[in-house]
Order: sequence, then structure tokens, then C-alpha cells
Amino acid sequence: MRRLSRAVAFLLLLLPLALAATTTMAAAVVAKAPAAAAAPPNVTAEMAKGGCKAFADLIAASPDASSTYQSAVEGGMTAFCPSDDAVRAFLPKYRNLSADGKAELLLFHAVPVHYSLGSLKSNNGPMNTLATDGAARSFNFTVQSQGDAVTIRTAAAAAPARVESTVLDKDPLAIYVIDAVVEPVELFKPAPSPSPTPAPAPAADAPKAGNGKAAARQRHPAPAVADAPGPAAEDDAAPVDQKDVKKSAADGAPCSRWWLAAALAAASALV
Ligand SMILES: *[C@@H]1O[C@H](CO)[C@@H](O)[C@H](O)[C@H]1NC(C)=O
Ligand SMILES: *[C@@H]1O[C@H](CO)[C@@H](O)[C@H](O)[C@H]1NC(C)=O
Ligand SMILES: *[C@@H]1O[C@H](CO)[C@@H](O)[C@H](O)[C@H]1NC(C)=O
Repeated sequence: MRRLSRAVAFLLLLLPLALAATTTMAAAVVAKAPAAAAAPPNVTAEMAKGGCKAFADLIAASPDASSTYQSAVEGGMTAFCPSDDAVRAFLPKYRNLSADGKAELLLFHAVPVHYSLGSLKSNNGPMNTLATDGAARSFNFTVQSQGDAVTIRTAAAAAPARVESTVLDKDPLAIYVIDAVVEPVELFKPAPSPSPTPAPAPAADAPKAGNGKAAARQRHPAPAVADAPGPAAEDDAAPVDQKDVKKSAADGAPCSRWWLAAALAAASALV
């Protein structure tokens, strides 16, 4: 009898807690919904969906490249993925590279700044890439825009690569398909320049393109330069708050479930 009344007292103590917990849990579920979209996009998955399956597979096969690509997204990134045909044509040369060379070539196809197509078209000049590692390992290419045509070139190839289409352009990530693999001069001998290659403009826009090295090697993506003025900062404010809500909701949920289980166990012990 005494045992029973102690159990009843215990249950009475637990019930309000369980009820409160359940209410919190319901509120948490409601609060959780809007924050769900906050995860950064999966770069290789987006590439594969958008016509760069072969290039995405090469990235996936290089641990260094895939982790750097993915960690650079949040700070802002623009990737130029060669089409499947372009990758196929380049494979003999690619296979000839060391593992480091392969990773560098892959990282050479992205810059640590988000460029919308519009801002890309207004850019002319050298850009650092995710492969850039100080002055000795420059790994830069030159963007040239003329009207609607955007091309990328280095001194290692006679012909530039051309931007063909947009896979994705949603802050912080843009992905464009290009019609050829771009060859860094650090890995390939300069082409016997038949075309009058315009000398790279004296770095007007380039420093803003950020330190590829900083983004890639130190896993500190883009000191988010130039491209992120006022409005972007305001956009950022909301998701951060939502993230906090989501976190505390997540913390609350398992706890309240535990209380509920305990109360039910106590109740069934009585019966
Ligand atoms: C991205 O998606 C691919 C499959 O498309 C998967 O193998 C990979 O693990 C994903 N990467 C991340 C960081 O989620
Ligand atoms: C591969 O490398 C070797 C040695 O450097 C070179 O002779 C050969 O032409 C290269 N093959 C291709 C397809 O680049
Ligand atoms: C781009 O790379 C080339 C070759 O390494 C280098 O000579 C040049 O100074 C670099 N330009 C910029 C703006 O970093």
C-alpha cells in the first residue's frame, strides 16, 4: 500500500513534467520546419545533375579535392565544370598527372567567391582559384567577358574555355558548365601561342578574388570580399537565428521524449 502511494506520488510528480515536455516538443516541431533548408548544397551532386557527371566523379575520387570543394561552399564559391565531352577528351592527360596534380587540376576549376552570371560578365582579368597556394603556386586563370560570352584562358592552351550554361546560381554557390578543361601553367607547358594572347590585365580585379590558398588549404573559405555588400549581410542574419532555434529544439526533443517514456513506465508499473 505504501509502495503504491509512493508510486502514485512519483507519477503525480512526473506527469506535469511530461506534459510540459510534450508541449515543448510540439513547439519544437513547429519551429524546426523553416530552418530545414539551411544546409549548404552538395557541390558534386549539383554538378552531376547539371551535366558535369564526369567531372563530379573525378572530384569524388579525390579526397583532397572533394573536401576542399565542399568546405569552400559556405564562404562563397564559383565552380566551372567541364562538360562530360570535355572531360572525356582530357582523360589521357589527366591520368598522366600525379595524385597531387589531379587534385590541383580539379581545385583549379573553382574560385572562392560567388559570382552571379551578371557579376562574372563584368569581370575581366586574372582570378585566383582553390588551387592557388602563394606566389609560387599561382594557379590563376584569366576571365574575359565580351558581351554575353565569358571565356577562361591560361597560357597553357591556345584556345580558351567558354562558359556554356548555368547549372546553379544561388548565393553562396554558382556552377557554370564550360566546354573544355582549363590547363594551369603550373601543370602544363605553355602553348606555342599562335593567337595574340592579351597579356593579363594588371590585376585590377584579381586581388579581390581572394586568396585561393586561404580558402582551400586553411579551410577558411573566402574572407568574403567585394561581392558581399549590405543586403547579403541582412540575408545572413535570419538563417543564423533559425539555426539557434533549430538547435535548441533538437536539444529539447530527445529530453522530452525521455520524460514521457519515464512517465508511461511508471504508470504501467502501477497497473
Ligand atoms: C554528395 O552527394 C554524393 C552523391 O551524389 C555523396 O556521395 C556525397 O557523400 C555527398 N557529399 C556530401 C558532403 O554530402
Ligand atoms: C604523359 O607523360 C609522359 C611523360 O611526361 C609524356 O611523354 C606523354 O606525352 C604524356 N601523355 C599525355 C597524354 O599527356
Ligand atoms: C598568375 O600566374 C602566373 C603564372 O604563375 C604568374 O606569373 C602571375 O603573376 C599570376 N598573376 C596574378 C595576378 O596572380
